[in-house]
Amino acid sequence: MGRKKAPEELYRFGVSIEQSLIDKFDNYLSKRGYYNRSEAIRDLVRELLAKEKVEIKNAVVYGVVSFIYNHHQRELEDKITSYQHENYKSIISTTHIHIDHENCLEVIIMKDKAKRIKTIAEEIFALKGVKSGKVSFVSLV
Ligand code: NI
Repeated sequence: MGRKKAPEELYRFGVSIEQSLIDKFDNYLSKRGYYNRSEAIRDLVRELLAKEKVEIKNAVVYGVVSFIYNHHQRELEDKITSYQHENYKSIISTTHIHIDHENCLEVIIMKDKAKRIKTIAEEIFALKGVKSGKVSFVSLV
């Protein structure tokens, strides 16, 4: 039987900040739907640490690679598929959407070292007929 982990205690600290800066921050928070500064600051800290995991530590993370391509482009679909077979150990799932007569959207979810995900994504984006691509990383901090 699994034991439930007790919620971690919150640590409180004071921050000195210029009035004009906190005004801008509060304005930003109200637009984003935050109820208080604490939750916003926690999110910023998590984001910063997640960014460090990707950019500096090259840790194992989840990566979402999405791109649009022209499916009339000769041999492109074969290249995309064989490239994914070559990297099957890093790929968790692939979703394909037919946008219209010409365009397809493919979303590949990967789990591997951040730099490896980036390399795989950039090689796909560089193929002729791939119109736009984006990689985003998600990780637990
Ligand atoms: Ni398609």
